Amino acid sequence: MGVGTYVPEKILTNKDLEQMIDTNDQWIRSRTGIKERRIAAPEQAASDLAIPAAVVALKKAGVAPAEVDLIIVATSTPDMCFPSTACAIQHKLGCTKAGAFDLSAACSGFVYALSVARQFIATGTAKYVLVIASEVFSRVLNWQDRETCILFGDGAGAVVLGAVAPGQGIISAHLAADGAGGHLLTLPGCGSRLPLTPDLMKQGLHYVTMEGKEVFKFAVRVMETGALKALELAGMEKDDLDLIIPHQANSRIIEHVAKKLHFPLEKIMVNVDKYGNTSAASIPLALDDALRQGRIKPGDNILMIAFGGGLTWAATIVKWV
Ligand code: COA
Repeated sequence: MGVGTYVPEKILTNKDLEQMIDTNDQWIRSRTGIKERRIAAPEQAASDLAIPAAVVALKKAGVAPAEVDLIIVATSTPDMCFPSTACAIQHKLGCTKAGAFDLSAACSGFVYALSVARQFIATGTAKYVLVIASEVFSRVLNWQDRETCILFGDGAGAVVLGAVAPGQGIISAHLAADGAGGHLLTLPGCGSRLPLTPDLMKQGLHYVTMEGKEVFKFAVRVMETGALKALELAGMEKDDLDLIIPHQANSRIIEHVAKKLHFPLEKIMVNVDKYGNTSAASIPLALDDALRQGRIKPGDNILMIAFGGGLTWAATIVKWV
């Protein structure tokens, strides 16, 4: 797997937020673990964050853009409704023979996309798949709503997948959804049900809405069940895992899950303090940080587990090559 990431230069700290809304650094740190997050420059859209991440991933994998067969972009904040962000990236990178599409599974999007890529490679339909997660949540947040705007940040991560020997790479994948909880985390406006109008904007329906407490409970529940399912599918036990890379939404969620799974926190990657919740991009950003910190070596079993709007959740176990 070649891995690349990109985060915008601008850092927004909790102290900065204190100047904008009624909040404080201590509350944000203790309730979420977040210290700061990155904010895209006005001219940066999802594809602009994705491209530098993808360039690094391709270089590390030793794959030329023209060799890529498929580009999957996990995002809930695409450049526009259509054409897809994946098509913009396909053109800008010069992936001349690649098919390209966006995948919508909110914060679970990267793990969903890994599973889709795996199928294309397993069937021999694609030799190389470029999976990207890129998010610019700063554009869809209500910066007056202290319950949501403190949580999210912008960033992108990319990986290049190709065929590996049996028993290596993606060992198991579990995708799940429960649309009954869709209302808990939404961006209701701007789609075909509520097209953009001045009235819609006045009501703030073009912003993220969230029932935080319910999402918290859902997250803790499905992170545990999803992890156990991925282990079962892989024929592994918890002790076989070298590292868990969870969706970086809230360090308290991660701590609850560690306790429920009886899994040592030292073997769980956490970098939510630096980036906040970057939605689909959070797992590749954490994966890249884990690699930089030397926490992953060939042969390690890594569980990646995500949850998000939909509701969706997804878990995959990768034997690192
Ligand atoms: N700064 C200061 N105070 C805040 C605040 C902020 N940013 N946001 C809320 N508060 C206040 C509330 O108004 C409330 O005050 P009150 O007791 O006087 O009514 C108090 O803090 C507690 O609020 P509550 O909503 O009970 O906090 P919480 O412990 O549930 O934490 C979240 C709120 C959003 C951090 C938490 O519910 C959460 O992380 N949920 C999951 C969200 C998530 O992961 N979403 C993305 C999924 S992909």
